[in-house]
Amino acid sequence: MIEMNSIVKRYGQQTVLSDVTFQVKEREIFGLLGPSGAGKTTIINILTNQLEADGGNHRIGAAAFEIGLVLDEDGLYVRLSCLENLNIFADIYAIPHTKSLEALERVGLTDAAKKPVNKLSRGMRQRLALARAILHSPKILFLDEPTSGLDPGTARGIHGLIKDMRDSGATIFLTTHNMDEAVKLCDRAALLHKGSIVEQGAPADICDRHHAMKTVPDLESVFIKLTGVELG
Ligand SMILES: Nc1ncnc2c1ncn2[C@@H]1O[C@H](COP(=O)(O)OP(=O)(O)OP(=O)(O)O)[C@@H](O)[C@H]1O
Ligand SMILES: [Mg+2]
Repeated sequence: MIEMNSIVKRYGQQTVLSDVTFQVKEREIFGLLGPSGAGKTTIINILTNQLEADGGNHRIGAAAFEIGLVLDEDGLYVRLSCLENLNIFADIYAIPHTKSLEALERVGLTDAAKKPVNKLSRGMRQRLALARAILHSPKILFLDEPTSGLDPGTARGIHGLIKDMRDSGATIFLTTHNMDEAVKLCDRAALLHKGSIVEQGAPADICDRHHAMKTVPDLESVFIKLTGVELG
């Protein structure tokens, strides 16, 4: 469903991605793991054609209108209500406004439907961005750090929603710093380190291979085992 082959990306003198190759199968939750600055957002931007690579090739099995996307910069209209924000997107996708209410319900924001975005908490705002991304039942959902900075309860709710999306046929590509999240959520994961993928497979297997603690697997120890390099 998603494929990258030997992707290279440079910003000026800095080579951010030197050789990135991976595949994501249909209906799987795929996690791209890496420390801050590793190039995770850059990979999403390349896959969604917002950024051009300097080498290699990639393809995704969905048209632009069949993609859902949640980035750091959520692009919500802060003075409009939750429902109004979703209705604007419903109009763009030519789907009925009833879908907006359904999406709010799915992310647990029904009671906040009439609240303006600038009166939402961070977690509520993140859930609204997610509601907007799933409004049109996308074939592929790209999520850039969907749970970063959220409390464990809200994060669990978002994990549940991501699994529901997968179960109803979507392919999910997400990024995270958190090995524990990958183990709980992802069918497969890849580790991005120094511009290339150094590991990919089932998250639990990756932990096993590197003797990372199974209960509290942490990305840092996996990286140190893999590379002998401590993360900055
Ligand atoms: N527009 C840009 N111009 C120049 N350098 C950039 C640009 N965007 C990203 N970079 C650099 O590319 C590298 C990778 O950035 P990217 O945002 O992809 O990392 P990330 O893995 O998403 O990090 P984080 O976990 O902090 O979000 C960083 O060193 C960053 O400084
Ligand atoms: Mg990023």
